[in-house]
Amino acid sequence: MPLDHYVTLGRSGLRVSPFALGAMTFGEDPGGAGCDVAESERILATYLDRGGNFVDTANLYTNGHSEKILGDWFAARPGRRDRVVLASKFFANLHPGDPNGGGAGRSSIVAQLHATLRRMRTDYLDLYWLHNWDRHTPIEETLRTLDDLVRAGKIRYIGFSNTPAWITAQAQTTALLRGWTPLVALQVEYSLLARTVEGELAPFARDQGLALVPWSPLRNGFLSGKYRRGAAAAESARAAFVGGPGEDDFPVIDAVAAVAADLGTTSAAVALAWLLARAGTVVPIVGARRVEQLTGNLAALDVVLTPEHLRTLGEVSAPALNYPAALNGSLRAMLQFAGATVDGETSTVYPPLVESDVRY
Ligand SMILES: NC(=O)c1ccc[n+]([C@@H]2O[C@H](COP(=O)([O-])OP(=O)(O)OC[C@H]3O[C@@H](n4cnc5c(N)ncnc54)[C@H](OP(=O)(O)O)[C@@H]3O)[C@@H](O)[C@H]2O)c1
Repeated sequence: MPLDHYVTLGRSGLRVSPFALGAMTFGEDPGGAGCDVAESERILATYLDRGGNFVDTANLYTNGHSEKILGDWFAARPGRRDRVVLASKFFANLHPGDPNGGGAGRSSIVAQLHATLRRMRTDYLDLYWLHNWDRHTPIEETLRTLDDLVRAGKIRYIGFSNTPAWITAQAQTTALLRGWTPLVALQVEYSLLARTVEGELAPFARDQGLALVPWSPLRNGFLSGKYRRGAAAAESARAAFVGGPGEDDFPVIDAVAAVAADLGTTSAAVALAWLLARAGTVVPIVGARRVEQLTGNLAALDVVLTPEHLRTLGEVSAPALNYPAALNGSLRAMLQFAGATVDGETSTVYPPLVESDVRY
């Protein structure tokens, strides 16, 4: 599958490439894990040249520098900005000491968007994400503000990131009932080393036709293939911030490496291909600090995992989901006690909660 084989972002008319490009590494935050302007521009140009059209940043990333790098690059190339889907996020407070400098209240969203548009040198964003849940702001206030900004033409689509499922469901229902702009996508942590999203948010997204947009698809690079038990990571800026994989992560890392060896590809490509193979619309955000990492990761587009590979990877990474996932998974067996056949299920032997039981 090439990068210019576009998919609609959930139940919307917005067409995006199968991988978004993450710009969190663009710019040199003091002590950050990013790259300089020249390397950021090489990464961006390589992605766009391959047909990629979906770029993700946030006001927070490298303290606004990431947005500025993108803005400057597109401003220097007239006509290119309108051909891409530019997404940014609000919530982070870039004004220490000002209680309204961040969050998801009305005036702070408007101020954050204007600052983002200035840095990105554009009149509009294609997609605007709530970066984190603001527990001190009514969700109706956030939604109504975003709806106003859509109607004003400043943003086109909206999505939530890192927000609990119960709030997300409440928000989507409210938007739909009130005729406000609904969410089209959820940006969530999702990888072979982080699958608990499968408990609540992923089934909700499937039910509502929302795209899932996984962040840290290599779990901060842990699934890239460069981490070995008991050894320091070869060449990593990120490791200084997040450390390395834990002992519990290595069975998954080893299984990914074995599949990669079987297919003659890299661990990074296998881990990303696993996400592409998930049910529903799943558009991972690839991250890279160097252009070679990006091109290595894009090799995932050519990887076809067999059912056996998927079974192996699914079992070794099976998540322990929060209540009531396991209880509801076992309901099929409980209904058998009444002698009933539910949804064509006739087996009286309930299998353990494995991947095939996580139903979307
Ligand atoms: N919504 C949110 O809260 C949230 C949170 C995080 C990220 N995001 C978004 O998701 C995007 C991707 O997240 P991420 O950067 O954490 O993704 P990731 O793929 O999990 O990690 C990327 C890092 O892993 C290493 N890496 C990547 N590919 C590699 C390869 N082929 N070989 C060796 N090392 C490799 C690099 O770090 P080193 O070389 O330094 O080891 C790179 O900076 C971000 O840019 C951002 O847009 C969103």
